[in-house]
Amino acid sequence: MKITWLGHNCWHLEIGGHKVIVDPFLNDSPVAPVKADQVEADYVLVSHGHFDHISDAVSIVQRTGASLLTNFEITNRLAGQGIAEDQMVAMNHGGGYNLPFGRVEYTIAHHSSSMPDGSYGGNPGGFVITGDDKRLYFACDTAVFLEMKMIGAPGLDLAVVPIGDLYTMGPTNSLEAIKLLAPKKVLPCHYNTWPPIEQDAAAWAESVTQHTSAEPVVLEPGGSLEI
Ligand code: NI
Ligand code: MN
Repeated sequence: MKITWLGHNCWHLEIGGHKVIVDPFLNDSPVAPVKADQVEADYVLVSHGHFDHISDAVSIVQRTGASLLTNFEITNRLAGQGIAEDQMVAMNHGGGYNLPFGRVEYTIAHHSSSMPDGSYGGNPGGFVITGDDKRLYFACDTAVFLEMKMIGAPGLDLAVVPIGDLYTMGPTNSLEAIKLLAPKKVLPCHYNTWPPIEQDAAAWAESVTQHTSAEPVVLEPGGSLEI
């Protein structure tokens, strides 16, 4: 499985011969290495309605014919925007959906979820993805929460956690999240996109090594990890 950071919380996965994009935010992202018309996708996962997670979802789904997996309220909001009804999978917390490469589950997140136009975007979430005999967790935008222990309990090959602070957990609280999740490897995200969420990822990685059993991996936007 290959996972590529497209900046912020946008990720591109090659998993079991399928391409998955998490939280497409490319054209307006100051740090994205590619534009929305340059990515391929079979599945697009959107964690919540904020613009920095959803802004390129519709155009990518329309161009590629990918399926969109997100919460029920967001699928309702996007109905009628040129996406066929059978292209959308409406999820909610605790539920999962089987795909040809494995399974996607929608987890809780402590955050908010208005749409870019201010309308209700349901509850925000994260994703557990299983495929290629691997189990991954994308925390997406969230504070740390104790149920992360349950998310990690079956074992995680990789966790992706925000470290930007201000809008999500920061570097210090991310250590608590990593202890609860106990993944083999951990990737940081949602930092250095704009000045208010600037962080020192090398210092974060050092604390992860010192205080948790996980192996931190710091990518640059455009960088990939094979697991
Ligand atoms: Ni957000
Ligand atoms: Mn965000």
